[in-house]
Amino acid sequence: MSFKPLSHLGNRPVNTKPYYIGLMSGTSLDAIDVALCQRNELGFVQKAGVAIDLAPSLRQQLLTICNEKKVTLQTLGEIDHQFALACAQAVNDLLKNENIKASEVTAIGSHGQTIYHSPETQYPFTQQIGDANLIAAKTQIACVADFRRMDMAYGGQGAPLVPAFHQALFAKHSTQRVILNIGGIANISILDGLEQAFGYDTGPGNMLMDAWINLHHQQPFDKSAWFATAGTVNLDLLTSLLDDPYFALKAPKSTGREKFNLTWLAQKLMTHDLITEDVQRTLLEFTAVTICDQIKQQSDACDVYVCGGGALNPLLMQRLNDLMPNHIIQTTEALAINPMYVEAVAFAWLAEQRILEKTVPLKAVTGANRDAILGCVYLP
Ligand SMILES: Nc1ncnc2c1ncn2[C@@H]1O[C@H](COP(=O)(O)OP(=O)(O)O)[C@@H](O)[C@H]1O
Ligand SMILES: [Mg+2]
Repeated sequence: MSFKPLSHLGNRPVNTKPYYIGLMSGTSLDAIDVALCQRNELGFVQKAGVAIDLAPSLRQQLLTICNEKKVTLQTLGEIDHQFALACAQAVNDLLKNENIKASEVTAIGSHGQTIYHSPETQYPFTQQIGDANLIAAKTQIACVADFRRMDMAYGGQGAPLVPAFHQALFAKHSTQRVILNIGGIANISILDGLEQAFGYDTGPGNMLMDAWINLHHQQPFDKSAWFATAGTVNLDLLTSLLDDPYFALKAPKSTGREKFNLTWLAQKLMTHDLITEDVQRTLLEFTAVTICDQIKQQSDACDVYVCGGGALNPLLMQRLNDLMPNHIIQTTEALAINPMYVEAVAFAWLAEQRILEKTVPLKAVTGANRDAILGCVYLP
């Protein structure tokens, strides 16, 4: 049996299809971010993007699976299907809006929705859902998915993957830069000139703040930090939050909702009797402190570029500035990329790497024993 070379997807030369699409839905479960990208003389650039809110019922079911950590096989299969349909619809809507044909897109890079990430157990695994067969069939575009598990198969954490993309796009000769992504989880990439990228998850980003305001005000997140701004930091609670072994662990390390969640917070709150806005403010401070501690460990002073939804939280940005007076903090807008789409663009880029059969240089980030080709290709 002979295999078709992937770089020629069914004998159609890659270079006749100028576009790649990235699909990302992170731990916040807020939206499916879709980025239309193209490699041209300027590099790998984003041409358009859209963020499609998850349907409330789908979001609720995903949250239940992630929080309760159990699900029937029937429900799991159906959610895998539903999430893929939402991804395919998001791609088709974007193509329609941009007046681009499926035949002009080389591939979609689909992260999928993480429902469990367990890099440190005896049999490590990470599980993303969103059937890539269905995405390929419904869009008629090759879909690359399952990006994390080959890294894990080589002993890596399978996360974070974005530092390789940050390195490829944002590294600058003889300059140290940090890219800080504040999604549900926060992660940093340290770009030292043109050396291989290094990075890891610093801990919770928006996730605990989202969970707390949702519990008390049924809002998905603390828009413009109105709730946190009404409270004050409780130092006892902050100390107790910081007293988690994750923060002293050496990289490589990655984390998720399985660890930092309302159950974890409830244990920390047991010995405190606080008003809800003080808890919200303390959670924001906790996110800021854990991020800044890690960045300062890596660099006394450098340019920090923020992306992810946390870049839109004014109080969080203010606290990053206060806690790192020697660093210059901007969003990735300063690098000509919309902070809300950096991760979606990263998955378009990862799809390109897979189609070109390039290894992704991540072993310094994930702890894998070698760099690997990441992702599986599903042809329509
Ligand atoms: N205007 C805003 N004010 C405060 N927080 C915001 C705002 N917009 C987005 N966020 C935060 O960003 C999160 C989404 O960030 P995102 O980067 O999409 O995370 P993920 O990758 O986990 O999906 C929201 O859940 C919210 O916490
Ligand atoms: Mg998101």
